[in-house]
Amino acid sequence: MEKTQEWLNSFRQNESLKQNINIKESRTGITISITGGKGGVGKTTASLKIGKELANLGYKVLLIDCDYNLSNTLIKLGKKINTDLYDLITSAKTFDECLYQEGNFHILAGCNGNMDLFENNLSIDEVLIDVINDHRDQYDFILIDCPAGLQKKILNLNAYCDHRILVVNPDKSSITDSYSMMKILRNKYSIQENHLLVNRIQNSDQYKRIVRTISETAEQFLGCRTLILGGIPLSEGRAEEFDKFLLNDANSAVHKNFCKVTKAITEKCGVNAVLQDKKVFSDFLTLPS
Ligand SMILES: Nc1ncnc2c1ncn2[C@@H]1O[C@H](COP(=O)(O)OP(=O)(O)OP(=O)(O)O)[C@@H](O)[C@H]1O
Ligand SMILES: [Mg+2]
Repeated sequence: MEKTQEWLNSFRQNESLKQNINIKESRTGITISITGGKGGVGKTTASLKIGKELANLGYKVLLIDCDYNLSNTLIKLGKKINTDLYDLITSAKTFDECLYQEGNFHILAGCNGNMDLFENNLSIDEVLIDVINDHRDQYDFILIDCPAGLQKKILNLNAYCDHRILVVNPDKSSITDSYSMMKILRNKYSIQENHLLVNRIQNSDQYKRIVRTISETAEQFLGCRTLILGGIPLSEGRAEEFDKFLLNDANSAVHKNFCKVTKAITEKCGVNAVLQDKKVFSDFLTLPS
């Protein structure tokens, strides 16, 4: 009886202890790189828009701009860069102090022209993998906006991520660059699966052709699987106008297609990812009338 009382007392104590501890909600921190090799294809555009839409769906999202020379993620949002990765690397500020936050959507801006990082031959891949590992359980999704090119450090980051989204435009050099990236990732890192987002599409035939070309070539020559996320139509007009309406116009075809792409990401890259590519040729694309 005495023993039972002891046990009960200690149990009650434990229970009240548990209630007092602020138990941290643990999240899965799925990492996705937004990449593709070629410059100017819409990687930053896609990172921002997908990040925002995932946050709108209720997910907690961290977007890391890993351009350690010419970061422009926050500039596209029309925000001033007050603090960035440089402050984190140099320990001038804490992680939280380095973030730009809009509700559930957090951005860690890259660096701009910090020459000493180059002189010290910064291992951006190792730095960012440490950052991700330290904060992974605070986020549902961690998006990595990659710079153009096939530098080893960026390839390392791509290979480290749980998923890769290759952003491709309907031009030969973009398609070839994305193939080169898939090839290196396959041969050097044994990556056999990539996601595809086609940006600047002019019509649905063009979209279908690109999707078919890339997925069939990757399958045939690399043994890689390509999971199709959808496409974003080309928006005519000035670049500044595009950047402005991108995040504000909920009626545009660009917005609607990004919403579909984001939904596809939650289905294909989420915790219970179900691979359902069959609809790709039928209803993934809403083109402007
Ligand atoms: N679907 C689109 N229609 C029209 N313009 C677009 C579209 N997508 C992106 N753009 C324009 O292309 C420009 C380049 O896009 P973005 O900066 O996202 O490319 P990037 O791949 O991140 O470039 P970098 O390789 O330099 O990082 C943007 O300023 C935007 O105006
Ligand atoms: Mg960019």
